[in-house]
Amino acid sequence: MFYEPRLGHGLPHDPFKAIVAPRPIGWISTLDAAGRPNLAPYSFFNGVHSRPPMLAFSSETMKHSAANAIATGEFVFNLCPRPLFDAMNISSGTLAEGESEFDAAGLEMAESRVVKAPRVAASPAALECKVVHSMRFHDVEGKPLEGWLILGQVVGVHIDDAYLRDGRFDTLAAQPLARCGYRDYTVVSEMFEALRPTDGGSYAAGQPDK
Ligand SMILES: Cc1cc2nc3c(=O)[nH]c(=O)nc-3n(C[C@H](O)[C@H](O)[C@H](O)COP(=O)(O)O)c2cc1C
Repeated sequence: MFYEPRLGHGLPHDPFKAIVAPRPIGWISTLDAAGRPNLAPYSFFNGVHSRPPMLAFSSETMKHSAANAIATGEFVFNLCPRPLFDAMNISSGTLAEGESEFDAAGLEMAESRVVKAPRVAASPAALECKVVHSMRFHDVEGKPLEGWLILGQVVGVHIDDAYLRDGRFDTLAAQPLARCGYRDYTVVSEMFEALRPTDGGSYAAGQPDK
């Protein structure tokens, strides 16, 4: 089949998110302007630059995470491991005003070092970010959309030492969750290593990772 999104797909569900899959889950913690913590998952999320490291997430409307990140200039990405699926799912719900997703999901907060927003204590890794850009989306005709992109520079990296093996972050052990389409998810459970033509036969410590 072929379809132009503007004319509709004719399927029971939009296949877009199932095609661009898997997408890492950006479990985003922020503080609101009054200093109250907020936590929510965003799968329109990824690392987008490495020197310096940068992350982006997008919000389909101006939700709390995006509004808080813009208001405070900060957010934290928490890696969501498979055992915390239920907590992550709960944190996507709508809570009563003033109720924290950390409490609703039974998650302990840990202090960040560079930014004020807390992080998920049980997360194998967390990246503290300062907002570099925020941008409202426009479509190809220039019509403003409801969606927003938030781009952050990583200013602090937390790694639970239990996930460091031989100087590498053990992604398999961390079991990062990722989102596919519909209500489907996947977990990083298999990896393989392959050298590049430019590696000169080995991937040595200290070699630039381009
Ligand atoms: C796995 C998962 C991924 C999600 N990804 C997004 C996303 O990329 N963009 C978005 O706007 N909402 C996404 N949502 C929905 C938000 O998490 C949900 O609307 C949440 O209530 C937003 O919380 P906030 O207003 O505190 O930021 C996702 C939900 C789940 C469960």
